[in-house]
Amino acid sequence: MIDRDDVLRELGLAPSWRLRRSPSGQAGTRGDGAAAALASTADLPMPAAEAQARRERIATLDYDRLVADIAACTACALCKTRRKTVPGVGDVAAQWMFIGEAPGADEDAQGEPFVGAAGQLLDNMLMALGLERASNVYIANVLKCRPPGNRAPEPLEAQACGPYLDRQIDLVAPRLIVALGKSAACRLLEVDASVASLRNRVHRYRGIPMIVTYHPAYLLRTPADKAKAWEDLLFARRTLREAVAAPAVG
Ligand code: URA
Repeated sequence: MIDRDDVLRELGLAPSWRLRRSPSGQAGTRGDGAAAALASTADLPMPAAEAQARRERIATLDYDRLVADIAACTACALCKTRRKTVPGVGDVAAQWMFIGEAPGADEDAQGEPFVGAAGQLLDNMLMALGLERASNVYIANVLKCRPPGNRAPEPLEAQACGPYLDRQIDLVAPRLIVALGKSAACRLLEVDASVASLRNRVHRYRGIPMIVTYHPAYLLRTPADKAKAWEDLLFARRTLREAVAAPAVG
């Protein structure tokens, strides 16, 4: 039987972990999003009235119709290169919602988020918190289709996929959101800032407490920051406990 120490060891945090100083994250690669998010656009924006009508329509969909809508989506050029759409996975009534950047090759092949190496690390991090993707968390991405070559999402792609992510958040109604990496954090907070500058604070997305931490793919490249990510997850757990204990507003 795997215990918590085994998991922490797997994460590189055991037998005892300490925060280590590390160089600041490098920009422009998958996971930390960064500069590539501002790269040139591949397609044209939808006219405003059409985009609004689409947003309003998506906001009425139930979960099954949302998944079907995503599977048929042609709102941006990624529909031409994707193999499978990757809507999300997990418990649609979960208290925890994790949001990553975009599917990679493994996710594109399987239609499920975080099934590659970064997903293995995410699963281990979840396990260390006593969570499991199949039962008490919901996992989604900013984009539902794979960007070619695993580049970061372009602004028009994130915009086109925005109504889907917003509807997922509405339907799941999590008590806490964890933004994994810069793309998710910046999309939800509508800022351009580093993960390092957004950590250690409780943000809000439509009133839902939100914690920002490093993307698992970044942690695979920068294991020295795993201890910080673990600290973020413990902070997230405390935040969720406080949110659940607090009397309901309204
Ligand atoms: N990285 C992400 O951000 N999402 C996935 O689903 C896989 C890798």
